[in-house]
Amino acid sequence: MKHIKTLLFAAAAIAAVCCACNSAPEGSDPRVEKLLRKMTLEEKVGQTVLFTSDWSVTGPSMRQGYIDDIRAGRCGNIFNAYTAGYTRKLQEIAVNETRLGIPLLFGYDVIHGFRTIFPINLGMACTWDPEAIERSAQTAAREAAAAGLHWTYSPMCDITVEPRWGRISEGSGEDPYLGSAIAAAMTRGYQGTDLAADNTLLACVKHYAAYGAPQAGRDYNTVDMSERWLREFYLPPYKAAVDAGALSVMASFNELDGIPATANAHLMQDILRDEWGFRGFVVTDYTGINEMVCHGYAADEKDAGRLAMNAGIDMDMQSASFFNYMVDLVRSGAVKESTLDEAVRRILNVKAALGLFDDPYKYCSPERETSETLTEANKAEARAVAAQSMVLLKNDGVLPLRKGARTAVIGALAASKDDLLGSWRGAGEVQSVPASIADAIREVTPAVYAEGCKETGEDRSGFGAALAAARGAEQIVLVIGEDCQWTGEAASRTSINIPGVQSELLEKLAATGKPLAVVLLNGRPLDLTAESAAAGALLEAWYPGTMGGYAVADVLFGDVNPSGKLCVTFPRNLGQVPIYHYAKNTGRPYVHPEAKYESRYLDSPNEPLYAFGHGLSYTTFSYSDISLSGSSFSAGGTVEASVTVTNTGDKEGTETVQMYIRDLVGSVTRPVKQLKGFKRVTLAPGESAEVSFCIDPETISFWRADMTWGPEAGDFKLFIGGSSDVVKEASFSYED
Ligand code: NOJ
Repeated sequence: MKHIKTLLFAAAAIAAVCCACNSAPEGSDPRVEKLLRKMTLEEKVGQTVLFTSDWSVTGPSMRQGYIDDIRAGRCGNIFNAYTAGYTRKLQEIAVNETRLGIPLLFGYDVIHGFRTIFPINLGMACTWDPEAIERSAQTAAREAAAAGLHWTYSPMCDITVEPRWGRISEGSGEDPYLGSAIAAAMTRGYQGTDLAADNTLLACVKHYAAYGAPQAGRDYNTVDMSERWLREFYLPPYKAAVDAGALSVMASFNELDGIPATANAHLMQDILRDEWGFRGFVVTDYTGINEMVCHGYAADEKDAGRLAMNAGIDMDMQSASFFNYMVDLVRSGAVKESTLDEAVRRILNVKAALGLFDDPYKYCSPERETSETLTEANKAEARAVAAQSMVLLKNDGVLPLRKGARTAVIGALAASKDDLLGSWRGAGEVQSVPASIADAIREVTPAVYAEGCKETGEDRSGFGAALAAARGAEQIVLVIGEDCQWTGEAASRTSINIPGVQSELLEKLAATGKPLAVVLLNGRPLDLTAESAAAGALLEAWYPGTMGGYAVADVLFGDVNPSGKLCVTFPRNLGQVPIYHYAKNTGRPYVHPEAKYESRYLDSPNEPLYAFGHGLSYTTFSYSDISLSGSSFSAGGTVEASVTVTNTGDKEGTETVQMYIRDLVGSVTRPVKQLKGFKRVTLAPGESAEVSFCIDPETISFWRADMTWGPEAGDFKLFIGGSSDVVKEASFSYED
């Protein structure tokens, strides 16, 4: 029997902080102080300016003439430019043609890979494997850093319970505990232990804060929530990334409690800098400064610049408000020069920490760009983690499919290489994708492909050919979902159904009576009520990246036993949204099916279709009852909770054992279940492992009525299982 101890994340986070401190500048670099003494006002402002190059557009505006701005010392930072050759060219202008020769900082959206694309972040989170996620961030950093990049706009730490919101695909789902573990892992992966190394990237914690809670799921929309909810469920992943050593933070587009995040001193000063001790710099998200005019918070773009800088923004991405007005604002006294100096100091110290004052070209390496990019090792890693990210939602025995059996592969998405990459695919290119899902299946078994229908539109003309292919086959794989551009930024939906006529095709294929496996490519929880009833098996494959075609085939044919677990709840219908596992009990919980005055719907169960933490395997696992080392503990003490997990099937498999708690009575009401620990364990058929969790005061801490963080004495329920809705229960108490 294996014995596995799970250290709670709090302890891991402490270790991560200590290790990451090595890469952070202690105090200000003397070279920075020397520069600051020499800099003109204009040169200082230049260091606070970030413009996009014309290589790619990631927002509504473009800067013409950015090369002249660099040459004039008026733009110290560039994003959306990459390759060793091009970044070197721009860097040479900054270093050789400006008075002080301060190197540029190059940023880019390296979100789930740079050239080798990993699954979208929502999928990565379903691995529940922070080590694998950390390795993928390291790989992305190696590829990107060789192409001249210093800075990635990742990790995206936005907790969300909003499937309508397209950007749910970019985050780690609904849970702050899992989200924090992942945010810290990504930060460690990007920054490593030495930010100055030529294969690490500066991380940027975004979108600070609460961008994942837009009203009605519409991107950029208003956010309003209590300070307690913000602190308990939304802020932890940002903080975890900061604690892990991230030295930049991106302010979000949204307002919070009536104040745009871009001018929100409570977020940037009180919480980020004063409470969390953040020592890096804060950048806006794109034209966030100018957008404060539309928000109705600033009279004009100049005033917006004043508000942003005075609230704690150090760098203006793309608004040109600092570029156009900051010199005047300082001269007029609307912004103190000391405030500007502090912003410049923070930015230059990060440039120093990156090693740019030692060698401004250390990241531009045509040799490494070739040798480190899209290597066989990187692709093998992407393939393995893609298979690991897939969640087997349902299986009535159709999966794994039989190799050698005639297989009909149907659906436009089955033949698409492009969609495998998802949105925000860095510099990933469709030409680098070796196989679509249909191609990969063809390598395993005799297969015929029929499109059936596109993922959107009403065209049913391909149904006949698809049905004919299905009838001539022994097993069917139908790939349906969303076009990958239907997720990501500015891609909100009012429906979470499978678009077009894809589900109609599914019904018709199901009626053939042939074994039917449905593979889903999508970037948000969808309403799969009808699809789940019709299909024999449902495999949620997200957008699985460069090697996604092969990874899907690996899982479908049983070369990889699926182990993904949902990091978001899948509702039965849009009316249940928001639905998440840490809901409160209410004063009238629904317990009597016949009762009227209880918290329920007339036309839908309360339970989701697939709960947070759900995910099947080709084997089965059983759980013993929970054993506790004691029935209570007090400050300074712990209780250990253990279960024995046994692989009761006939295949090796990996199970993610999840621990949840409920604080029965609090000075403020507490969720009915809250994730507080998880551990992956791989077991051979018949093998058992004891999995233990250590419960300490931090495990049960929360924002108490007086807005302090800590535990309260009382009774607790403890739940351990393989999904938030399938758990063993025990009880313990905590005494002050
Ligand atoms: C806007 C997006 O909100 C953000 O995530 C991204 O990093 C920036 N544009 C830069 O492309």
